Amino acid sequence: MRHLMSPLDFTVEELDQILTLAGEIEKNPGKYAHTCEGKKLATCFYEPSTRTRLSFEAAMMNLGGNVIGFSSAASSSAAKGESVADTIRMISCYADICAMRHPKEGAPLVASLHSSIPVINAGDGGHQHPTQTITDLLTIRSLKGRLDNLTIGLCGDLKFGRTVHSLIHALSRYENVKFVLISPEELRVPGYIREEVLEAKHMEYKEVVRLEEVMPELDLLYMTRVQKERFFNEEDYVRMKDFYILDKKKMKLASQDMLVLHPLPRVNEISVEVDDDPRAVYFKQVQYGVYARMALILTLLEIEVD
Ligand code: CP
Repeated sequence: MRHLMSPLDFTVEELDQILTLAGEIEKNPGKYAHTCEGKKLATCFYEPSTRTRLSFEAAMMNLGGNVIGFSSAASSSAAKGESVADTIRMISCYADICAMRHPKEGAPLVASLHSSIPVINAGDGGHQHPTQTITDLLTIRSLKGRLDNLTIGLCGDLKFGRTVHSLIHALSRYENVKFVLISPEELRVPGYIREEVLEAKHMEYKEVVRLEEVMPELDLLYMTRVQKERFFNEEDYVRMKDFYILDKKKMKLASQDMLVLHPLPRVNEISVEVDDDPRAVYFKQVQYGVYARMALILTLLEIEVD
C-alpha cells in the first residue's frame, strides 16, 4: 500500500506512467468508466476547497466509484476534539482510499501512519500539494510537449504557496529546467526549498521582484495568489495582496508561446482581461486536474486496465 505526501514519493518513471495514463483517460474516458465500481473515496477536508475536493469526487465518480466525506473541520468530529489519527482509523473502515486536506503541515502524514488505506495529501498548510503538481505537470506536458528545457517563472506568494513548493520539487528532477522566482522580499521561497532543492541540485535560478523585467525570457508563467489564510496579521496581507496583477499590457512583453498557469483560486493577480488570451491555460489546467486524479486513484488502488 502506498500513500502520496509529496511529488517525490513517485519516481520520475512512475510519474511519467501516471501522466501517460491520464492522457489515455482523456482520450478514451469510457474505457475507465467502471474501473472503480464498488470502491469508495473519502474526502476529508479540514480546510476550504473547491477544485481539489470536487475534482477528486468527480474523478472517482468518472471511474464508477462512490464518494463519502466532509468538507470542513466544523462538520466533522474534529470539532469535538477527535484526532486525525483516530479519524483515519474510522475512515479506513468506510472507504478504500482517502484524500485529506488539513491546515497543519504534516497532518496527512500523521494520518498515513495510522491508516490501512492509501492516504493522499490534498494540501497541508503551507507545505505541499502533490496532486496539484501532478495536474500542473500534466498541463505542461500536454500543452508544451515536454517537462525539460523550460524556463519557468513562479510569481506571487512563494513563501506560503504550497503548490509552488511541490512544483519546484517535482521539476527539479528534469533536465535543464530554470526557475525565475518572482516575489516581494517578504514572500520569497522558504530557505529550506532554496537550500535543499535549488542549491543542493545545482539548479539554475534567480530571484527578482519585478515581473515585467523577466516576462520575455519565460516559457511558462505560474501565477499564485497571496495566501491570506497563512498571514498572521491583516495589515501585511493588505500590503501584499495586489503586488502583482498580470494584465494585457504585461502579456505583450511575453513570447507568443509562453503559457500562463495558475492553481486557482484567483483573486486579483490575473486580470480577467487576460482570460481570453490563448496563452492563458488556467481553466484548461482545471480539466487536466480531473484526469490526473483519475490516474492517481487507479495507480494507488493498483487497478490495471488492459
Ligand atoms: N488549486 C486548489 O487547491 O484549489 P482549491 O483550494 O479550490 O482546492
